[in-house]
Amino acid sequence: MKLFKVAIDGPAGSGKSTIAKEIAKIFNLFYLDSGALYRAFGYYLKKMGFDLNNENDIINALKTFDIKIIKNDYYLFNEKLDFQIRTPEIGKAASIVAKNPNVREKVNQILRNIAKVHSVVIDGRDIGTVVLPDADVKIFLTASIEERAKRRYNELIKKNKKVNFEDVLIEIEKRDKADSTRKIAPLKPAEDAIIVDTTGKNIKEVITEIKNIILKKI
Ligand code: C5P
Repeated sequence: MKLFKVAIDGPAGSGKSTIAKEIAKIFNLFYLDSGALYRAFGYYLKKMGFDLNNENDIINALKTFDIKIIKNDYYLFNEKLDFQIRTPEIGKAASIVAKNPNVREKVNQILRNIAKVHSVVIDGRDIGTVVLPDADVKIFLTASIEERAKRRYNELIKKNKKVNFEDVLIEIEKRDKADSTRKIAPLKPAEDAIIVDTTGKNIKEVITEIKNIILKKI
């Protein structure tokens, strides 16, 4: 049977992971969160006391970095990764290590190995452009920066985190800039991606829109 591949890219807070998870359920695809792998690597470096900006530290950490993906769960050695990689601090660390070509190669290898044997939906920044240039469907999700910051803020408040809206907005602005201006695999839509602007739309509406795009390609 031919494998089916869906790429969902977009900036922080565009709703990629929520949407990708639902699309995975609807079409019975393996869901992969590429951002979680960059976060896991950033978390690992910090945990080992390594310097995020030091090439030698990164090379050494890559030699031992051992991540397992079981269903929707990510394990660093035997530690199940969850809330500990979802902090703004680890988001920032992920964005720093994601600039390194060796780190990107490692993450891409993990993702492609799974996509070789499973039908997948992968979310990230460069899935349609670099990781799966041959994806059957490429979606680029966007939303206004205020709306993305509002979503992130609400998510953090729900988790009882003490944050203020301005800080969340500034953090997202910084991450957008870092992700879209970096030299290697910058955040940008693939030429053949379908752009879906989610500003003012609820999750159900976005899922229906994407579901219809995919149904036309099946
Ligand atoms: O999507 P998420 O916010 O979890 O990603 C964390 C960071 O990992 C992003 O800000 C980005 O710098 C990096 N990333 C990337 N390429 C991807 C996915 C994430 O560079 N495909």
